[in-house]
Amino acid sequence: MPGPTLSSGLNLIHKQLTYHPPQPTSSFEGQTVIVTGGNAGLGREASRHMAQLNAQRLIIACRTVSKGEEAKKWILEQTSSRTNIEVWQLNMSDYGSVKAFAQRAKGLERLDAVLENAGSWPTRFEMLEGHEATITVNVISTCLLAYLLLPKLEETGRKHGITTRLSIVSSDLHKFATLKARAAKNIFEELKVEATDYDGRYNDTKLLVVMFIRKLAAAISKQHAGNDQVSLNAMSPGWCDSALKPPKTFGERTAQRLLQRSTDEGARLLVDAVAADKVAGRNGQYISEGQVRQAAAWLYCREGQTTEDKVWTELNAILESIEPGCTHWAEGEERKW
Ligand SMILES: NC(=O)c1ccc[n+]([C@@H]2O[C@H](COP(=O)([O-])OP(=O)(O)OC[C@H]3O[C@@H](n4cnc5c(N)ncnc54)[C@H](OP(=O)(O)O)[C@@H]3O)[C@@H](O)[C@H]2O)c1
Repeated sequence: MPGPTLSSGLNLIHKQLTYHPPQPTSSFEGQTVIVTGGNAGLGREASRHMAQLNAQRLIIACRTVSKGEEAKKWILEQTSSRTNIEVWQLNMSDYGSVKAFAQRAKGLERLDAVLENAGSWPTRFEMLEGHEATITVNVISTCLLAYLLLPKLEETGRKHGITTRLSIVSSDLHKFATLKARAAKNIFEELKVEATDYDGRYNDTKLLVVMFIRKLAAAISKQHAGNDQVSLNAMSPGWCDSALKPPKTFGERTAQRLLQRSTDEGARLLVDAVAADKVAGRNGQYISEGQVRQAAAWLYCREGQTTEDKVWTELNAILESIEPGCTHWAEGEERKW
């Protein structure tokens, strides 16, 4: 696993300088959409776009309801939208909150698209719910929520004869991941050991969700013989202006000014990732610049595949311990959730 290389770095810089995401035009008319972390940054801009694109019901999922209400107010000021915008509490640091959110979503009449956008960049070592905080938020809660919302997505797809969508916001930085913990007997146990390379930890979390999406989509496709009601992907918005990782040095500030996409430009790609008219060929794929791209090359070699299988097994066991039966659906077993 190479981690960052000169050519991968140059490739990223080239894309940042030359690719400018177009305004989204896909219709969300009549659709119900959930955006996690919809109160700020890319999630708030993506929510604004989807309101502008006539979503019928937009659920801003956020940990602080007052921030979500501010985002709702802002979206309504920015658009002439008649979208019914709701703010639902969701704290990804707390599995109880994820489960309560999913329980509430069970009551939705329909669910067309989910943008799993909430995520954080670690700045110190912290444990949450028995795992390192970034693993808990960016990986375990994110995957748990995907599993718990899938039945509603599938039900909507079947009922309306459509393909519903779920996208996890990953990052091109997953290609820089080194996942040193892969050498350990148990990867997720090893990831509990205090880390000081916080950038590396962020990259690892973005690789782990790419692995999860690839395996989950494959498992569901097998169960449905390729006739999928739900399309899953992991996507990258590129490097965008947000509060995710404030620059500390002059060099970082300069690079930011020269290379970053605006929050709006990045959000256009989030919207693209869950657009109904863009599903063809995307199930289980990694999307960057609005196109299916190869995920980290390492994933396609023998060690990458073995590690992906190991991650899938360990992650499913963790998720089962949090919500027994939640993963059975992907394996085609009797639905317990
Ligand atoms: N900006 C980039 O260059 C970039 C590039 C690639 C991928 N991404 C990914 O894009 C996603 C959005 O990031 P952003 O750049 O828009 O950063 P941001 O402005 O910091 O937004 C992050 C969002 O996630 C929410 N969040 C964080 N921890 C949470 C938790 N424990 N429970 C619930 N919500 C939580 C935040 O809520 P609060 O407001 O309450 O903190 C906020 O709404 C992240 O997954 C990030 O990794 C960003």
